[in-house]
Parts: sequence; structure tokens; C-alpha cells
Amino acid sequence: MTDVVNPLRQGLAGDRLPEPTTVVIFGASGDLTRRKLLPALYTLAAERLLPANFAIVGFARKPMTDEAFREDMRQGCERFARARPLDPAVWDAFARGMYYQAGDYEDLAAYQALGERLKAIDLERGVQGNRLFYLSTPPSTFSVAVSRLGAAGLANASRLTPYSRVIIEKPFGTDLATAETLNRNVLQVLDERQVYRIDHYLGKETVQNLMVLRFANGLFEPLWNNRYVDHVEITGAEAIGIEGRGGYFEQAGILRDMVQNHLFQVLAITAMEPPVTTHADDLRGEKVKVLKALRPIPEGRFGEYVVRGQYVEGSVAGRRQVGYRQEPGVNPTSNTETYVGLKIFIDNWRWGGVPFYLRSGKALPKKVTEVALVFREAPLRLFGDSARTAQSPNVLAIRIQPDEGVSLRFGAKVPGNTLDIQPVNMEFRYGTSFGTEPPEAYERLLLDCMLGDQALFTRGDEVEASWRWVGKIHQQWDSSAEPVETYQAGTWGPAGADLLLQRGGHAWRRP
Ligand code: NDP
Ligand code: BG6
Repeated sequence: MTDVVNPLRQGLAGDRLPEPTTVVIFGASGDLTRRKLLPALYTLAAERLLPANFAIVGFARKPMTDEAFREDMRQGCERFARARPLDPAVWDAFARGMYYQAGDYEDLAAYQALGERLKAIDLERGVQGNRLFYLSTPPSTFSVAVSRLGAAGLANASRLTPYSRVIIEKPFGTDLATAETLNRNVLQVLDERQVYRIDHYLGKETVQNLMVLRFANGLFEPLWNNRYVDHVEITGAEAIGIEGRGGYFEQAGILRDMVQNHLFQVLAITAMEPPVTTHADDLRGEKVKVLKALRPIPEGRFGEYVVRGQYVEGSVAGRRQVGYRQEPGVNPTSNTETYVGLKIFIDNWRWGGVPFYLRSGKALPKKVTEVALVFREAPLRLFGDSARTAQSPNVLAIRIQPDEGVSLRFGAKVPGNTLDIQPVNMEFRYGTSFGTEPPEAYERLLLDCMLGDQALFTRGDEVEASWRWVGKIHQQWDSSAEPVETYQAGTWGPAGADLLLQRGGHAWRRP
């Protein structure tokens, strides 16, 4: 496998040009391909980040010509690409390297035919055999697709070059057992260095900035521990409901959909030790240590650590939102959670005794993802303790989205001849400081995979460690007859969510 230098250590993304590559997308007739993957690849092309010798092959069961595929993808890019409007010259060159191959995911002959087509494309486009297979199909097809790739001689596990890499979409398993099975099946065919498990939160600029904030500055890291931090709040709130995905969400719930993957990755990056290098395995090794150090929920005290909720009818930002049980595809007596709040302790030297509160929910008042470190109060109230000198703790809030940025709250003297103290904020905003919006996560992740950099992809043991912890909650819920709490759509979750923090003398921030 080609060993690459991690770009986090380098300057601009423009330094990095992948080798000639063919990207093969399984499930190319689907929503993700049209809405995210092709728009991301087109934007990379428009920003000259793709190699000149480059091709895309869409693979799915639906019969389609190359022309029809190109037209469908053009419409997707016109609507969703960050680099809009499309530049006709860039589009024409990009579309010339785009092909479509119909086939069944189970059928070995279809993979052999795909292999022949790829050889012809190698010659036509000068790609030299490097292949990136993107599994953008339902999770039930992941194992079989990898196994057929191996049987058709497309997996190349024993060869460093040309490379074969496989990106696997989420969800990676639905519990520990299924994740272990999928890891086993995949690793029977591929080497771990060929496997790129997507968690699109890792592709977000602001999640990467969390590492930069911590490890490229001398100021924060000395304070980043239980001596100075009182508690940490991680919020992944969404204003939308389940948006027609009733069938999927009934099986998943918010704990599987958002927490086991996205929020746990954010938690791991917030809490990990400084890695020795930014090389993928050093970084992922530190994240795994955090996930392994999560304290099991104490027997008989589940309610003090876990809260779940489900939205009922309400209004979100002036828009009427039907209740979860009234959504299409949802069982009218469903107990599936659309909100979860967790209190977590990380049993290691850095974080011993510091509660990490996590929450994620649908149909909350607004979309916001943030990490907030709430610091311990000053040891002495030198200025007394009245309403006018009320001191609130310092808070470092890292806004992952939207209004990406960082703010630091501290107390300041109100101008005047009296000693009034008020909290004020020192702010950094991406938009104002850099005059640009952060790129789409899928752009970064596709580019990194072509460059052979796994740092922003999850490793097999990481995924298993997070399922191991989360699975205990599912087991408890499955064995309990207690109904899910409800909350009105457009509010900040069920009453139990506030109690979760009140017990520790804390309160959720209103981000
Ligand atoms: P789609 O339901 O649109 O499926 C993609 C394609 O998979 C379909 O066009 C279909 O193509 C093929 N397919 C293969 N087997 C089946 C099957 N049994 N049932 C239905 N379709 C099948 O999915 P998305 O594009 O939305 O998602 C693709 C992957 O990405 C999934 O794993 C999903 O969990 C993940 N994902 C998607 C997100 C999104 O925003 N869309 C977000 C996060 C993850 P054909 O019939 O032509 O073979
Ligand atoms: C997806 C979940 O993985 O992440 C969705 O399946 C959720 O339910 C989405 O809405 C949130 O992603 P983002 O990037 O909009 O925060």
C-alpha cells in the first residue's frame, strides 16, 4: 500500500493530487450518488484536485446507458454541487470520463463483466488500474459486494499497486454482533488498509478544526482536563423530523442513526490524548482508547445516565411538524427514540470525574452541532456574589455547524463606576475570517481515499468499541416495558433530559 503523508500536516489541499484513478460507485442509481457523491467529485474537478487521468463508473441493477447516467448526474450536480453553476468546459471533460455498467450485486458474472469494462477504461483513460469502489447501496449488500469483488479478482489485497480501495457507507452494522460479522467478512477479502468506513462527520472541516484547535495551539491543551474542565456538552440537534425515512428510522432510532457514529466520533476527538503523529493509525489508536475507557452504565442506575424521547406534534420555527407516530412508515404505537440524552464518564487520568453530556434529537428548535467545554469556576469570588457581579463559568464552544466557528465566554467589567460583571464572548467565525464556506465533507473524504489517507475514516476496532458501549443501552430498552418519554416538536427534548443534568448541578446550554 502506498504510504502517504497526512494532509493535516501539510498546507493547502492544492498540494495533494491523487494518482490516476477510476471511482466505481455501487448503487449509482440512488439518492446519495446523485445528491452527494457526484456533486462532490464534480467540485473536486472544478477545483483541479482530480488527476487528469480519471474515470467514474456507475454500477447498479437499473438498466441505463452511459448518456442517460451522465444526464442524470448533470442534473444532480447542477442542483447540489458546491461549485455551481457548472462550468461547461469542466463539465464536458468530467462527463467524458463517466460510464455506466448495469449488473446485479449478487451475480459474479456481473463483476467479471465490470472487470473487463474497467480494463477497457484503463486503456481509454490512462488510469493504470487504480480503483476505488464506493459501496453506496443498502447495508445488506455490503458483505456480498466485497466477497464478489474478491472472487472476480478486483480486490487486489496482496498487491500494493495498482491499488483497490473500498469505501463502505454507513451504517456499519446495527449492533456489535452485526458489526463484527461485517468486519470479519470484509477482512476475509481485503486488508484493513484497503477499507475506508465512512463517517461523514469526520469529513467536516470543523471536526478537523477541533484537532487543530487542540494540538496546533499551546493555549488550550494545558486546560483540557479534569483540573480545569467541569463538564462537557456535545449537542447534535436537528430541526427536521425524519423526512419520509420512517421505514429506516423505525429500525434505527437516533442512538444508531446519530450517536453511535457521528457524536461518538466527535466525543473521541474531543477527549483523546494528543496522537504522536497525524498518521491514520496513531490518530485512530487514540480515539479507540477513549471509546474503550467509557464507563459502563452502573447496574440499576440506567435512568440517571440515559434519557430517550419521541416527538409529538408541534411547530418548529413556525412550521407545523406532525408527531413521529403519525409519520409515514411509522408504527402508530412505536417506542423508537427520536431524542437521546446521555451522561458519560471517561475513566482515564485526563477525564476522571468529568461528566460528558451528549444529546441528539430530531424536531428540536434548530439545527446545531456543537461541543462546549464548561470550565470550573474561579476558586474565589473576589468581587462578591450579587446579581450585578454574577459570575458564570467560562465556556469554550466549538460550533461544528452551522455558523461554523469557536467562541470563548468570560466575565468582563461593565463600563462605569460600579463593579458590574457580565459574560461576553470572543468569537471566531469561518465566514468572516476566511471569507469562504467550508467544503462538503464528501469532497474531502473522496479525495483522502484517492490519496490513500485513512485518518478521517473509522477503523474496524473503533466501530466495534462504540457498538459495544451503545449496545448495552439497546439491550436495556429492549428488555424494558417503560414507554418512551415524549416532547413537543420544536422544544429541546423531554423533561427527563433536563433532569439528567440537574442531578449533577448542571443545565444544558441553549446554543
Ligand atoms: P438508495 O435507497 O437510494 O439506494 C441506492 C441504490 O442501491 C438504489 O438506487 C438501488 O439501485 C440499489 N439497491 C441495491 N439493493 C437494493 C435493495 N435491496 N433495495 C433498494 N435498493 C437497492 O440509498 P441511498 O443512495 O440513499 O444510500 C446509499 C447508502 O448510503 C446506504 O447505505 C445509506 O445507508 C447510506 N447513506 C445515505 C445517506 C443519504 O443522504 N442518502 C446518508 C448517509 C448514509 P438499483 O436498484 O439500480 O440496483
Ligand atoms: C445522517 C443521518 O448520517 O446524518 C441523518 O442518517 C442525519 O438522519 C444526518 O440527518 C445529519 O448530517 P448533517 O451533516 O446534516 O449533520
